[in-house]
Amino acid sequence: MNEKISDETYKKIKMYALSQMAKLKNASHNDAHVVRVKNNALKIVRILNVENEIDENLLKIISLLHDFTYTVRKPSVYTYVFEGHIERRIIREVLEKFDLSEETKMVIIGAVFHHTHSFPFGRLNKKRDAYTRILQDADTLDFFDCLRIKMYMRQNSKGIFGNIRNRLSSKLIEYGIDNLEKFLNYPVLAKSFFTDSSKKCI
Ligand SMILES: [Fe+2]
Ligand SMILES: [Fe+2]
Repeated sequence: MNEKISDETYKKIKMYALSQMAKLKNASHNDAHVVRVKNNALKIVRILNVENEIDENLLKIISLLHDFTYTVRKPSVYTYVFEGHIERRIIREVLEKFDLSEETKMVIIGAVFHHTHSFPFGRLNKKRDAYTRILQDADTLDFFDCLRIKMYMRQNSKGIFGNIRNRLSSKLIEYGIDNLEKFLNYPVLAKSFFTDSSKKCI
């Protein structure tokens, strides 16, 4: 990457991304989620000791934009399956609003396109660039964030099948926590995040 993203450009994109994500009512995909993913991504950079290889402003932008699909589509099976494709289609238009080189745009588009389906399907990006790998792991780790689990359970407890849905979700989350290494591009991260405390949230 030749271009270094300025703090000013980062701030502009951050403001825009958060203003759009804050409108979402979805417990799993909103401004709080993308901020946690951003913080996870920065933590991963420190753990892997790759500060010199990563433009942190670019990584933060990628994190804040990765779930933009949900600004144009409601959560559904279709959105879940085709999230990456929808994201790729809409994100270019968003990026045109900002002063970014074509090379930078391609890195962002590549990372957000490939971020989906790590958990529980194990579709990882081990051969792709570091931004793509870090984003996907940062997002995967947020599946097991205590606050997100609680919000998700609360939202899903509504309706006659709420209890059954939550019991199945608890089992899935437990399975994910016990097998976290399988769902990460950097398995070493499984030991560095909040897996023990997350089990208490289920
Ligand atoms: Fe996503
Ligand atoms: Fe996400």
